[in-house]
Order: sequence, then structure tokens, then C-alpha cells
Amino acid sequence: MLEIAIINGPNLNLLGKREPEVYGHASFEDFLEQLKKDFPSVNFTYFQSNIEGEIVEAIQFHGFNKAGIILNPAAYTHTSIAIGDAVAAIKTPVIEVHISNVHAREDFRKISHVSAKSVGSIVGLGLKGYALATEWFIAKAGAIQ
Ligand code: DQA
Repeated sequence: MLEIAIINGPNLNLLGKREPEVYGHASFEDFLEQLKKDFPSVNFTYFQSNIEGEIVEAIQFHGFNKAGIILNPAAYTHTSIAIGDAVAAIKTPVIEVHISNVHAREDFRKISHVSAKSVGSIVGLGLKGYALATEWFIAKAGAIQ
């Protein structure tokens, strides 16, 4: 089984209730159930925290033993040097995902401390971004190295 960790940052526990016009109507838990059904060959680990240091610890914990990490640090994307450093410190490739198009919103959302340290970023494609990141890790695992 391909091992993928999904790590979500602050306020993403409120998906479905939080600004649905920006973030949609689905809770992440419901979406995750569908994601698991859509990708039966993947073993997903899911972690969400509103606390910066816990996100750093989750990145470190999964950073040496997974095929990939899908990381949405939420607001910490724009502020956290510690999370950027954690992404740079690990071996597991990270795909940064944002549900909304951060480039079409306030200027402070255009700064990311994780983009340059990630293999790539998917922004503005809704929850589908997590599925697209999963597809990339599956394709990578199957590719001739
Ligand atoms: C977000 C975008 C961030 O700017 C914001 O602070 C979030 C969610 C997104 O997924 O669109 O909390 O990461």
C-alpha cells in the first residue's frame, strides 16, 4: 500500500461550516471517506491541528517513512518559518494544497513559507486538490526512476 499522510492546519476542522462560499459545504471527514474509496491502493493517515508546533511535529513524524505528504498549513502557510523549515528538513516529498485560490485573495495569502520547499503546489481547485496530489504520488510510485 502506498502510504500518504494528509496534514491540515488551523480552522480546517471547520470545513463545511466555515465560510462555505470560499471553502465549500463538505466536511473534511466526509471528503476523506470518499478519498479512501476512490484510492483503495492508498493508506491515508490524517492529522489536523490548530497548533503550529503540532503541525511541525506531524511533518517530522511522517517525514521519513511515507511516500508523500499532502500539506495544507492553512493560515500558517503565510506566517510560519518553523513549518517551512520542517518541510525542508524531511525526506518525504510534500505537495502543498490550498482549497481556495490564495493568489486571488488578500495580498498576505500570496506569501508561502512552504511552496519553495515542496515538490509542487495545488491551489484553488477545492478539495479536488487533495485527490490530484494523491494521483501525483501514485504516478510517481509507478514511474521508472
Ligand atoms: C487555505 C488558504 C489560507 O490562506 C487560509 O488561511 C486557510 C485555508 C486554503 O486551503 O484555501 O485557512 O489554506
